[in-house]
Amino acid sequence: MTAKKVFRFVAVLLALTLVAAACGDDSTSTTDGDSTATTLSSGGADEVEVFSWWTGGGEAAGLDAMIAVFANTDPDITFVNSAVAGGAGTNARAVLASRLQANDPPDSWQGHAGQELIGTYVAADQIEPLNFLYDQEGWLDVMPETLIPLISDGGNIYSVPVNIHRANVLWTNPTVLADNGIDVPATLDDFFAALDALKAAGMDAPLAMGEQWTSMHLMETIMLASMGADGWNGLWDGSVSWDSADVTAALEAFDKVLGYTNSDASALSWQDAGQLVLDGDAAFNIMGDWAEGFYRELGMEPNVDFGWAPVPGTAGLFQFLSDSFVLAKNAPHRDAAIAWLTVAGSLEGQDAFNPVKGSIPARSDGDRSLYGEYLLSAMDDWASDTVVGSLTHGVVANDSWKSEIDSALGLFLLDRDVAAFQTALVAAQTASG
Ligand code: GAL
Repeated sequence: MTAKKVFRFVAVLLALTLVAAACGDDSTSTTDGDSTATTLSSGGADEVEVFSWWTGGGEAAGLDAMIAVFANTDPDITFVNSAVAGGAGTNARAVLASRLQANDPPDSWQGHAGQELIGTYVAADQIEPLNFLYDQEGWLDVMPETLIPLISDGGNIYSVPVNIHRANVLWTNPTVLADNGIDVPATLDDFFAALDALKAAGMDAPLAMGEQWTSMHLMETIMLASMGADGWNGLWDGSVSWDSADVTAALEAFDKVLGYTNSDASALSWQDAGQLVLDGDAAFNIMGDWAEGFYRELGMEPNVDFGWAPVPGTAGLFQFLSDSFVLAKNAPHRDAAIAWLTVAGSLEGQDAFNPVKGSIPARSDGDRSLYGEYLLSAMDDWASDTVVGSLTHGVVANDSWKSEIDSALGLFLLDRDVAAFQTALVAAQTASG
């Protein structure tokens, strides 16, 4: 056993002792730094280690809601929550990579549907196919047809999607907009006019932004606005050149948008940036709809404390991503991991998780009565919009390509040289695309 495993074992023993002492208390938990083990009073020796980056701001609450379902369906399995903090998995994925490298996989981990899954974990032969579970649970009847190819390779299905998130959302402060006589912008031109008006009214940075991954998130939504669905898709299937004038125009729009953001962005999490909007220090934030989970957890009221719209220029487009859970090859607790995945794909699990997480269920049979106003609008848009994939959240590019783009973006945020940025993006595609 590694030191960490010994520690976990001791933690589980401790939890069991506490449960015995509590005698009649339903559950207890204990923490070993990055892991929290939750067990029921009937808890046995079995456990499952689940790895994610959902540690706060609506995200942990969503995960907890699904863990509670698991505790009911599988009371004998101890849930070891190995979530590592950091939005978009920036830290967690580095930790995961070194564990996989060291042949010490968690039983199950969070991975995005799309190239992150297929081009990374499947390519490296790190996860098991789950066709047997799909057959057993009848999931092919309830999971969207569009999603299955993104989690499949060579006829094998490799993950269990728990949700659909939307990336291209503009979050607004309705009071700030009303006080300044500004309508929610529908086009990029409207957006620039609104940002200029707010600046003229004395708001230094009307568009809130956070650390680097949030600027990639901003970039992809503005590129989508500028290039449209075909242009954006073409960048990933090779039919649109990264060298083209359309890309130049999109990057120039992104550069212009950056001019309205806060100078301390690199020090802020996505929640911090969202908070600037709630506090009225900024009017807008472009972020995925996990922001709704964050606002909800803070007790904010939709359409009063916060508003939303598609990112200007992207009405009718749904830039999506999907969180899914995988089964590690040689999972230390394979049966327990399958029990967890069964809950992750179940109606009960998804309807507990998503209304809190700020996402809509991957399954098509979610109970609409459980979802708030924003999420109902997202369900309707998901059903009717043109769906395109997210870069920042793993759909369109594998890890190696994304990391080349990220390095180029890091330089661009410092030098703001659009031509050099485009040259680096062309090179990134040549190297990894
Ligand atoms: C995404 C993930 C979301 C949310 C977000 C912010 O990559 O898919 O579920 O966690 O990061 O952390």
